[in-house]
Amino acid sequence: MRRLGGKSALITGAARGIGRAFAEAYVREGARVAIADIDIARARETAAEIGDAAIAVELDVTRQDSIDAAVAETVAALGQIDILINNAAIFTAAPIVEIDRADYARTFDINVAGTLFTLQAVARHMIERGIKGRIINMASQAGRRGEPLVAVYCATKAAVISLTQSAGLNLIAHGINVNAIAPGVVDGEHWDGVDAFFAKYEGKAPGQKKREVGEAVPYGRMGRAEDLTGMAVFLASDEAEYIVAQCYNVDGGQWMS
Ligand SMILES: NC(=O)c1ccc[n+]([C@@H]2O[C@H](COP(=O)([O-])OP(=O)(O)OC[C@H]3O[C@@H](n4cnc5c(N)ncnc54)[C@H](O)[C@@H]3O)[C@@H](O)[C@H]2O)c1
Repeated sequence: MRRLGGKSALITGAARGIGRAFAEAYVREGARVAIADIDIARARETAAEIGDAAIAVELDVTRQDSIDAAVAETVAALGQIDILINNAAIFTAAPIVEIDRADYARTFDINVAGTLFTLQAVARHMIERGIKGRIINMASQAGRRGEPLVAVYCATKAAVISLTQSAGLNLIAHGINVNAIAPGVVDGEHWDGVDAFFAKYEGKAPGQKKREVGEAVPYGRMGRAEDLTGMAVFLASDEAEYIVAQCYNVDGGQWMS
């Protein structure tokens, strides 16, 4: 039997990368999914490629009206939301003395406020309908410890781990499980951008940082989006009912906690 049969999921930032892999895995497991992304053109392409079980929904997680509209649109199309994955995020990097206040505010707005207020909107829907839902937040190994050039992004992901703990403890009273996944380094368009930051600040050739981080992973290579899907399916499945307020590393052995 498919593990998410009959379930409906809203996945933010699912037009590409890890979120897209989650959407594909959820559909394989029998769920219907809303691909919610600020890049609505790409979200539509992705949903069309996944097929009838996927819809595209426009979402900017920094705007409350957009969050509310995306939740309403998903509920209208799929009936209800059983699973939310807070996956949308951006990366930024700079030495401490060059951190820009506007860039700091934008990164926190998307990665932290976006996660919290999307979680809040979906939790309200789940509580109203009595849905014993699942919420999964995307943290990162960057949230486990600081990095010299990545202060702001690391701080946002530490905040996501903390929010997961508080929301997990609060919402389990309503039968809603909140947990997080902390990936390590996952190849894709996101990491192309990360590589460009390190090329700029560490004087590396394009692609060099990627090679170095891949070689440093105990497993022996960078992660792939598909490496994360097993944990995302498990946390949304009935088997994970007793798991509350946790953050799981899925990173090829990079971090232990
Ligand atoms: N790739 C990695 O190495 C890695 C490692 C650890 C954690 N993560 C986390 O995993 C998640 C997915 O990462 P990815 O590599 O697939 O990233 P990605 O950059 O490929 O995808 C992010 C998606 O979020 C969307 N998005 C950006 N701003 C948005 C907004 N305001 N509202 C709605 N959508 C918005 C983008 O359009 C994009 O489709 C992120 O939370 C990221 O921080 C990634």
